[in-house]
Formats: sequence, C-alpha cells, structure tokens
Amino acid sequence: MKKPWAGRFRGKTSRVVESFTESVSFDYRLWRYDIEGSIAHAKMLGRQGIITGEESEKIITGLREISRDIENGKFTFKQDLEDIHMNVETALIKKIGDTGGKLHTARSRNDQVALDLRLYVRAETREIMSLIRAFQKTLLDAATKHLNTLMPGYTHLQRAQPVLLSHHLLAYTEMLDRDAERLNDSLKRTNQLPLGSCALAGTSLPVDRDYVAKQLGFEGISQNSIDAVSDRDFTIEFLSASAILIMHLSRLAEELVLWSSEEFRYTELPDAFTTGSSIMPQKKNPDVAELIRGKTGRIYGNLASLLTLMKGLPLSYNRDMQEDKPPLFDTVDTVKSCLIVLRDMFPGIRFNTERMRRTAGDAYSTATDIAEYLVRKGVPFRKAHGITGRIVLHCIEKKKRLEDLAIKELKAFSALIGKDIYDFLAPEESVKNKNSQGGTSLREVTKQIRRLRRVIGEKSVKRKE
Ligand code: ARG
Repeated sequence: MKKPWAGRFRGKTSRVVESFTESVSFDYRLWRYDIEGSIAHAKMLGRQGIITGEESEKIITGLREISRDIENGKFTFKQDLEDIHMNVETALIKKIGDTGGKLHTARSRNDQVALDLRLYVRAETREIMSLIRAFQKTLLDAATKHLNTLMPGYTHLQRAQPVLLSHHLLAYTEMLDRDAERLNDSLKRTNQLPLGSCALAGTSLPVDRDYVAKQLGFEGISQNSIDAVSDRDFTIEFLSASAILIMHLSRLAEELVLWSSEEFRYTELPDAFTTGSSIMPQKKNPDVAELIRGKTGRIYGNLASLLTLMKGLPLSYNRDMQEDKPPLFDTVDTVKSCLIVLRDMFPGIRFNTERMRRTAGDAYSTATDIAEYLVRKGVPFRKAHGITGRIVLHCIEKKKRLEDLAIKELKAFSALIGKDIYDFLAPEESVKNKNSQGGTSLREVTKQIRRLRRVIGEKSVKRKE
C-alpha cells in the first residue's frame, strides 16, 4: 500500500520497520474519535472556503460510510498504513477519489492524534465518573442497610473503638467522591481543542478553530501550537487520578480479603464472585478482590510509564509519544473493569453482623469512653487516660471485661466514678455518644448518608454530547 508520505522517498520501508513503527494494532481504538474530528474539520474547511461546500460534503459522506464499515466489521486495518489516521484517510481517498486528499488540509497527524486522544480521554473520564457514582450508590445502599450494625473500628489493625459498619463503608464513599472530583477537575484541562496547531507552527490557511471547538463540544482552544502538539498532561492527569482511584479500590479489596478470612469471618462473598481451589475442595477464594489489589500495580506502572516517556522529550511532537496509548488504554480498561466488578459484587456480600457486634465489644474497646467520662467529671485527660489504663490492666489480670467490674472495684481507681459509668461501657452506648461532626453516632452517620446521596444526585455526570 502506498504511503501518504511516500513522495520524498526512493526506497521502500523495510517490513521490520513497518511492524516496529505501526500503532494501528492498538490505536484503531480511536477510530470513532478520529472520524468525528475529521468530520468537524471538513465542515470547517468548507465553511471557510478552503475547500468547496461540495467537496466538504463528499468528504463527510465518505467518512460516515467508513464509520459504518468499521462498525460492521467490514473495514480492514492495514499495518503498512501505520496508524488509525492514515488508515482512515487512505480508505477515504479510495472511496471518493482525489477529493479525499483534501481532508488533510490545514492539519497534521500531530494535532490530529492530540485531538483524538483528548476526545477519547474526555469520553472515558465521563464514563469512569458515572461508574464511580454507580459504585458509590451501592456502597450507600449497604451503609443504609447497616445503620445499626456495630463493628470494631481499627487502627494498626488492632481493635480500637466500636464504630458503625455503615460509617466504615461511608469512608470509601468519601474517597470515591474525591476521585470523581479529581476526574471532573481534570476535564476542564482535557476539554481544549488542539486541532489547528498542525505540525507545530499553525497554518497559513484561514482556519476557524473556535468553530471546530464548538462542533466537538470543547470548552476552549489551545493557545500555543507548539505546546498543543507536545502536551500529554491531560493523559498524565487522567492516569494519576486513576492511580489514586485504584489505590482506594485496592484498600477496600484488601479489607474484603481480610474480612472473608476464617480469622475475621466478617463477610461472606457471593458465590458468583469467588472461585474454588483445584486441589482443596473446601476453599472459597476472594480472587476478585485479590485481583483488584493486584491490578493496582499495573495502574501505577502506567502512570510511571507516561511520566518517564515525556520527561526527556524536546519540543514539540516526537514519535516517542505514540507509546502513550497502550498504558492509557490499559488503565481505562482496568479501572472500568474493577469498578464494574465491585459494583456488581457488593450487593451480594453478606456481613456477619452478629460476629461484628460481638467483637465490637471485645478488647476493652470502650476504654476511651471511660477516659472521656472522667474528663466530664473534671479530670485532666492525661490523668483520665492513666486511670483508665490501670483499669484495663486490672481487667487483664482478673480476666474480666470492663462491664463485668463491680462499682466498688471501679471506685478504687477514682472516687469520681459513679454508677452512671455503666451507661458508657457498652459498645452501643459508645457509638451513640460519638456525636462530633463526622463521628460514628447514628445521628452523624445518617447525616453523612444524606449528604452523599445529595452529592451523587447532584453531581452525577450530565452528558453534553
Ligand atoms: N501514530 C502517531 C502517534 O500516535 C500519530 C502521529 C504521527 N506523527 C508523525 N509525525 N509521525 O503519535
């Protein structure tokens, strides 16, 4: 196949080089955006009189046909045509003749690939935002269901203080909220039109970049053509927001692995989302959660790949930048699959609420409540902490729980202790009293649920296109 740039060459490209330099095997995924961008460009060329209205229409009709061919699997992507851009352009010329050769007027593959990528990242960012919202909703439903389920809250993976399971789940909803915010924030920088920058210097032809931007739903246009063809910040921002997002999913996955172990026995994962062992018949493994945790490494790697790829590049476009796509596509696919599998698995998770409640009261988990009780009686906190520590030690020695102590035993540690202390020893009471903003009391957790439901409702992605 004759290459669009063959004019200046006498010899043929080596086969080895063709397969080494091609990108169509992966950038074919951009076809929809490539054609969408070309249609907007062709409209502008016709409108500006750079080509005739008739030529513009002919090109657009041809592009729409190619789009249908690709959709119906009737299009063959050719490796010797390098990339998606030259594949589409060559097919257009084949379809409509010489007029097809006018499409690439006032354009270069450098601004074209930047455009395609921005359209792709924009669409996938929106898609991922709505998957985040869907998963948040699932978490909120579970949180609403477990408003009365007590569990031990942990620090250092040691039982620390009783909390509501609901509160624990909502912590993830908060993380995901920041993730959606981060993606949304990056969108305004992604949503800028680079087309019209051409190879790097702009063009002498009378293009109307604002018109193209409007056609394609961009918020604005890039301001420096050299920057526009060199810039992959928007991709790096996307990969970075995705790395933080999957870090959160990985922490949740880790908890699901722990919680479904015999040691914890807090959750049972649904059969449809677990797998068996080929040798141990009794096993039910949390592979889905493990894989989410495992895939996190790749997502971090993809970010590191792109940062490294870009760091030494002189301005403006360099072919190195073609290597931005595999990590980008991989992050998009991986993050989406993790969100989908979590969204679908979560409603089927059974929480062993009885065991959670039982363990919530173990390990002297309400000791801090005794200290706060003493503070309310006027004891300085540091002293109250010391007294309570000695009470706990006494319990350990006598093999008693805090609530088993007689009032006489308690009074021996501080004369300020009265019978009302028993109101503070049960985990239910402990939780009920945590009324500080954002705390674990039912009142505060209900507020958090209400706020998050509103956030999700309000901020759920509005599709503009
Ligand atoms: N396939 C190329 C890429 O992904 C498209 C741009 C090629 N530009 C060039 N001047 N060779 O970066």
